[in-house]
Amino acid sequence: MRILLLSHSFNSLTQRLFGVLRAQGHVVSVELDIADAVTEEAVILFKPDVVLATFLKRRISEAVWARTVCLVVHPGIPGDRGPSALDWAIHRGDAHWGVTVLQAVEDMDAGEMWAWESFAMRPGATKSSLYRREVTHAAVQAVLRALQRFMPGSLQPTAVGFLGSDSNMTAQRPEGLPNGQIILAKPKVQDSDPNKPGHTNSAAITPGTWNPPMRQEIRRINWPSDTTQTILQKIAAADGSPGVLDALFNHPCRLFDAHPASAQIIAVFSESEPGTVLARRGPALLRRTVDGAIWIGHVRKEDDATPTQPTPPQSPAVNVLKLAANRVFATQSTALPELPVPLMREDGQWDELRYREFGPAGACVGWLDFEFHNGAMSERQCLRLRDALRWVRTRSTQVLVLAGGQEFFSNGIHLHDIEAAQRVAGDSAADASWRTINAMDDAALEVLTLTDRITVAALHGNAGAGGCFLALAADVVWAHAGVILNPHYKNMGNLYGSEYWTYSLPRRIGEAASRALMRERLPLSAADAVSRGLLDACFGEGAKDFGALVLEHSLALAAPHNLAQRLAQKQAQREQDEAHKPLADYRVEELQRMHRNFYGLDPSYHVARHHFVYRKPHAWTPRHLAIHR
Ligand code: COA
Repeated sequence: MRILLLSHSFNSLTQRLFGVLRAQGHVVSVELDIADAVTEEAVILFKPDVVLATFLKRRISEAVWARTVCLVVHPGIPGDRGPSALDWAIHRGDAHWGVTVLQAVEDMDAGEMWAWESFAMRPGATKSSLYRREVTHAAVQAVLRALQRFMPGSLQPTAVGFLGSDSNMTAQRPEGLPNGQIILAKPKVQDSDPNKPGHTNSAAITPGTWNPPMRQEIRRINWPSDTTQTILQKIAAADGSPGVLDALFNHPCRLFDAHPASAQIIAVFSESEPGTVLARRGPALLRRTVDGAIWIGHVRKEDDATPTQPTPPQSPAVNVLKLAANRVFATQSTALPELPVPLMREDGQWDELRYREFGPAGACVGWLDFEFHNGAMSERQCLRLRDALRWVRTRSTQVLVLAGGQEFFSNGIHLHDIEAAQRVAGDSAADASWRTINAMDDAALEVLTLTDRITVAALHGNAGAGGCFLALAADVVWAHAGVILNPHYKNMGNLYGSEYWTYSLPRRIGEAASRALMRERLPLSAADAVSRGLLDACFGEGAKDFGALVLEHSLALAAPHNLAQRLAQKQAQREQDEAHKPLADYRVEELQRMHRNFYGLDPSYHVARHHFVYRKPHAWTPRHLAIHR
């Protein structure tokens, strides 16, 4: 089939469907939803059998849906409509949720349902996390099922076909009901206490009813009365965008990236009033709640709106940078006590980095988590990772697992943090880019030169740009089937890239394939990446079982039967490579190109970064995606 993906942006769900549909042999092109006339032109040019709208913020024009089957992926169960589907589901504490594939009609999310798939809501998961994992997985199943119902030449689905999902909720369309009307059977999981996690409030979902955008009044935190659990849930439901509008040090700001504090910490501050900011750690500020305390990792400060486009007070703060709370309120936070924790510690103490060890002496696996919000790495975070890697060297282990974060392994240098440097007197985005990439290279170098043990990069989440190449610095790279990689830099204003990629990539896949990968600029599924030699293995369906499998395989790697031989080989190879061309030379060459990107006459990188961080609407679809153009 010829399938046109229509999307507001080429986001992770669109990327996943792009890969899955191409792997099935469909001819897939992409058009970003810029304007009706542009979409209409794309349909004329590409002549798709089906337009698949993966992530839209506005209606599809009638000129398109009246002539071509347009299927819309909606992250909600049958009958749910509206743009805050997941936000409401988290807010209500639903135990199950789903994805529907609906035909586009006049009203948004109101067309005939072609397929749907349900999933269990993961307790404590943020909206973005659910979107990237459960929603994406369910969307793939539902889309594939919907496409089976396509009849060439018809705007109707085949009568036969599976409408419902395999789990707790069932939707049936009785004979004679007009399009868009669905009977929603009640979910089996019910609980009468709406405050209990897992409670399913099916009454709040009115089939065929528009559920409005969730307003800040509903999201608002009531510090004197909301429990830690409620506050975490509110911040989770607003994750990514729009955040929970609140205030820190009397400055209005939106809160993201919240984590519960440990009982130890709470005990120290038990006398403080709820809402008080108590301490700092890494990127985060600690804030008292009525029954505990939470770490707030990232904020968007409302009055930081970009001067060219001030944010109207009621609209989501999209024109504002999302930065470490401790950085945004650096002046105020210096007065707060700092509460660092050691890298190696028991469960329950949150920080971005954590190191653990598993297995017996002589066959021991070191495990380094670096949970950087959105996978973005500022200079501070790169240096923390570098220092952690230096410390890890002193540990006697046979294998080191670089686990990255649960949501993203890494997305490379922190573009919001770099953008923010523009506003600091005496600093600039170019200088911040330069410092950050050097710090990132320092971290990658630690991995590349760790020759006394096997290094494993375990991708629990997606990796993009420099984050991919940080992973490739390891000896072995594993991922699960849900991971998407973007192993290229050029989409960010033709950035050349560093992280020693000119060494790591060709040594894995060869020079010609490396050039092709960089040129194509396409996302790769983990399975694709294995077949192209970029990854060593892909196992596990998703993030859920991946960690346990990685540990099992790593312990097997650490078992000493041929380890000494393997390490000797690794060291010999490194020495040979170094003699052929020192790592320092790769770095100098890459950084010369990056220097030009940052300080040269061509402003492409600065323009692209500015557009990315302020989420500026796309003006055109990149030609490598829009094959019809
Ligand atoms: N710096 C700062 N923030 C970043 C980031 C980076 N390098 N990469 C991703 N993010 C943020 C996004 O702004 C977004 O923020 P939100 O929480 O406000 O929504 C969030 O991470 C998720 O990113 P998104 O683009 O929505 O995820 P995706 O899975 O759809 O796409 C990528 C993944 C990697 C393709 C895309 O994020 C990207 O191109 N990132 C930039 C990579 C890059 O060029 N890095 C610099 C060169 S090394």
